[in-house]
Amino acid sequence: MSKAFEANNVNITFDGNIKALVNVSLAAEEGKIFGLLGPNGAGKTTLVRMLSTLLKPDSGSLKVLGIDVVAEAEKVRESIGLAGQYAAVDEFLTGRENLYMVGRLYHMSHKAAKKRADEILEEFNLVEAGNRQVKTYSGGMRRRLDLGASLVSKPKMLFLDEPTTGLDPRTRLELWEVIRNLVKEGTSILLTTQYLEEADELADKIAVIDHGSVIAEGTSKELKNKLGGDVVEFKVSKSNEVNKAISAITKIAAKDPTIEENNIVVPVKNGPKGLLEVVRALDTNKISLQTISLHEPSLDDVFLALTGERAKDQTIQKSKKREVPRG
Ligand SMILES: Nc1ncnc2c1ncn2[C@@H]1O[C@H](COP(=O)(O)OP(=O)(O)O)[C@@H](O)[C@H]1O
Ligand SMILES: [Mg+2]
Repeated sequence: MSKAFEANNVNITFDGNIKALVNVSLAAEEGKIFGLLGPNGAGKTTLVRMLSTLLKPDSGSLKVLGIDVVAEAEKVRESIGLAGQYAAVDEFLTGRENLYMVGRLYHMSHKAAKKRADEILEEFNLVEAGNRQVKTYSGGMRRRLDLGASLVSKPKMLFLDEPTTGLDPRTRLELWEVIRNLVKEGTSILLTTQYLEEADELADKIAVIDHGSVIAEGTSKELKNKLGGDVVEFKVSKSNEVNKAISAITKIAAKDPTIEENNIVVPVKNGPKGLLEVVRALDTNKISLQTISLHEPSLDDVFLALTGERAKDQTIQKSKKREVPRG
């Protein structure tokens, strides 16, 4: 069986010095959701553009459904759908007209394009809005239409670039449902996201990408297991006591703690016992706390442990990064 997509040692540099992808090698199984998780500027869209034939790598090779993307771009285009990060539908056309137009672009007959547009309006709950100009649509409706437009040609491989960024929680849940149904019908999906819970919820396999490099890969569970058990998370009341707190818990920590401002996340071995040990150590050292809790590691914790920062816009977060004292 061929893979849904493969990237082998892919590199690309923009403007001579922006290394957008560095030796990226990934492979995804057919009929599953592969999640590409990373903060703003990590290189997600660049990889999607390459896999969907819109951009060529400087070096390395890419395949979609077993077909070489650079050598046989035309053939790849016939089997893929792309819903970009920004809705690509025409504001001044109606929803129905947008879908019809896409069908015609795929060389469908007038009749077939009309029929497909109706099917998609139905599937995406847009029948009533179908004859209205898109400029009257809500954000969620646009996103649904955009996703629908990427499905006109019934692609085997679908690229969804941050499909839920900027959507309200309810619309996001709706879209998750739509995406799950697509997979049930056999579509392979590459989904990029900055949302850890989205990757957690939808993706069968996840690759974490940071500054153009893949820094971790596996199922959500495998990624969480990297931290080796539960984590104790606490906030010290006084930010000048962070280092003191870290020294106090060094012996208890199963792995290096991660720090963000006065918030500390410590992987511990024996769940509740670990929590008690941390509480005792902090109390002995008279460090006062705002909050403390024991929980399973979230993907957020994994990301923080891997990169030293939360999965937010890196350009903003960088200045707040702190080194973890060791010893
Ligand atoms: N056409 C381009 N020209 C110059 N720089 C680019 C271009 N496209 C992307 N970049 C840069 O490459 C990096 C990765 O961008 P991108 O793939 O869009 O990240 P993401 O989708 O993960 O937010 C960023 O530093 C971005 O500014
Ligand atoms: Mg992007």
